[in-house]
Amino acid sequence: MPGLMNLSRTDGPHPFGDTAPRHRNHIGRERPESTRPGREPTASVKRVQAVPAVETTRLHKNYGDVQALRGVDLRVETGSIFGLLGPNGAGKTTAVRILTTLLLPDEGSARVTGFDVVRDAAKVREQIGLAGQYAAVDENLTGFENLEMVGRLYHLGRGRSRARARELLSSFDLSDAADRLVRTYSGGMRRRLDLAAALVARPPVLFLDEPTTGLDIRSRIELWDAIEALVSEGTTVLLTTQYLDEADRLADRVAVIDQGLVIAEGTPEELKTQVGGERLEIRLCDGQRGEEAVAALVSIASDRPFLEDGWVRVPVAERRGTIADAVRRLDDAGIAIDDISVSTPTLDDVFLNLTGHAAEPETEEAEVQPR
Ligand SMILES: Nc1ncnc2c1ncn2[C@@H]1O[C@H](COP(=O)(O)OP(=O)(O)O)[C@@H](O)[C@H]1O
Ligand SMILES: [Mg+2]
Repeated sequence: MPGLMNLSRTDGPHPFGDTAPRHRNHIGRERPESTRPGREPTASVKRVQAVPAVETTRLHKNYGDVQALRGVDLRVETGSIFGLLGPNGAGKTTAVRILTTLLLPDEGSARVTGFDVVRDAAKVREQIGLAGQYAAVDENLTGFENLEMVGRLYHLGRGRSRARARELLSSFDLSDAADRLVRTYSGGMRRRLDLAAALVARPPVLFLDEPTTGLDIRSRIELWDAIEALVSEGTTVLLTTQYLDEADRLADRVAVIDQGLVIAEGTPEELKTQVGGERLEIRLCDGQRGEEAVAALVSIASDRPFLEDGWVRVPVAERRGTIADAVRRLDDAGIAIDDISVSTPTLDDVFLNLTGHAAEPETEEAEVQPR
């Protein structure tokens, strides 16, 4: 889809000058192919600054007939939060699994802090933490025991593991629940513990796969605060989400992914501007007077107001003052308002705008040709 924002394309030469054909080396996963050992970046190569935390180039992945990724280019700058935004089945988890070395790409390449996820998988694993939608903590241990165990798995030793566990429980506001079995935790507490577990080894790059899906709004906000605090300490975060508001709140940059392709990339502001900004939503006491309301409001709209599901929807360029303005105009026209609010664009709006189709359910035909 040409003409869309693709603001951080990385078509230039790779910092390592690696233009040789890709060779895979296998770590016991999937089909064997080449066994040529990967080249190590030499010590003289500086991987500071210029090297992005995450970079993918034309990443492809099929599951049988399903084309999960169809050439995904991403670039995540060190120290930023990057949002991979897309509906169910878009390919988000597939991308995260490749980036965390759990899955091999079919084509293309990916690097994390300069290390190739296939050839340097062990090094990549030293750089990353992963937390996801399905909290991976052990229900039959306490919060403290879970974190201590992870520390021991990373060979931190007993004393350091315990100290790190206490520190993380405190920063995720779980100290009071430290000695309770995780099975008594709420969903939000589990996710925070899961996030804490991913941080035991202080990874510079953190992958969060739909970290707040299914959480209530308070838990989401708590988790958002925790993620923001991490980034303020220098961690790079790539998170996937189905929610524009989450990407909006957290991400410095967002890539919108649909059916295995990045269809837009930019800051949340740029994406929202692209879908037409905010919308005034008004329900009238007398539903019959919709057309009159549209006529009364057309002069404050940035695009033509329309009627939908009993609501008058008015695209507006500027949020400030619009509610008061609309109330005044409707009042002048003698039209009574039952409900009025301003809505920001949803993921559905983004999708509709970018693709001309709504975000589709998972069952939808997967082999749509590249747009
Ligand atoms: N193990 C698998 N086998 C077959 N198809 C899969 C598998 N995992 C994912 N898919 C399919 O690949 C596509 C992308 O899935 P996924 O990466 O999980 O998307 P998302 O995380 O964005 O919901 C979907 O069509 C999904 O049904
Ligand atoms: Mg997923």
